[in-house]
Amino acid sequence: MAGLGARSVLVTGANRGIGLELVRQLLGKPDPPQWVFACSREPDGERGQELRNLASRHPNVVMIKLDATSPASVKDAAGCVEDHLKGSGLNLLINNAGIYKEVDLEAVDLEDMINKYKTNVVGPLLVSQAALNMLTECQAMSYKEDGILCTMIHPGWVKTDMGGQEADVTVDESVRGILSVLSTLSNEHSGAFFDWKGKKLPW
Ligand SMILES: NC(=O)c1ccc[n+]([C@@H]2O[C@H](COP(=O)([O-])OP(=O)(O)OC[C@H]3O[C@@H](n4cnc5c(N)ncnc54)[C@H](OP(=O)(O)O)[C@@H]3O)[C@@H](O)[C@H]2O)c1
Repeated sequence: MAGLGARSVLVTGANRGIGLELVRQLLGKPDPPQWVFACSREPDGERGQELRNLASRHPNVVMIKLDATSPASVKDAAGCVEDHLKGSGLNLLINNAGIYKEVDLEAVDLEDMINKYKTNVVGPLLVSQAALNMLTECQAMSYKEDGILCTMIHPGWVKTDMGGQEADVTVDESVRGILSVLSTLSNEHSGAFFDWKGKKLPW
């Protein structure tokens, strides 16, 4: 992905925390993407305000409603993205949406476990599947030699709603690190796990 230089990027959970900062920093790059698909559960709701403000200043931001746990919502979102891309394919998918709640082993209940699994495991798979279908279309249009590079990046312990104020990394630092790591990746890194500083982590 040398130099990032992605033409189209989709970020899930883009209305706050790391996702919102990813959108902000992508837009601030000297070579910003032509399209940034900023996905959130409630783009018109109260928690979408900061993203709406950002989108109002950047016509290349497309706000998209997406609940990663709902196959119907993912399908609708993929349809909107495809309408914008007009067959040119998505270059970069950032599966950022996630949930975390600290609970004791004795206190955790079934609903809580299922909800975490749905959001943090099934959600990214559903979104990746929809993105893969778009890539398949794009491959059919003569990009056959292009591979798919898939990596996981740990953002650090970040000062967001999730990480809390006692976390040791600011959202700005973390996202700068993530984007810098992304820009150094190539096929040899496929399947690898890095932290936000670019250190390879064991699976
Ligand atoms: N912060 C850390 O220290 C830390 C550490 C390790 C890993 N991470 C990972 O980094 C990612 C971002 O974390 P963060 O700190 O930015 O968290 P955050 O501030 O809590 O934001 C989470 C984002 O995910 C969205 N989201 C949750 N469930 C969703 C669903 N079903 N469909 C679509 N969007 C959903 C939220 O949307 P709503 O506003 O609608 O709830 C919000 O935009 C997460 O995957 C998290 O696990 C964070």
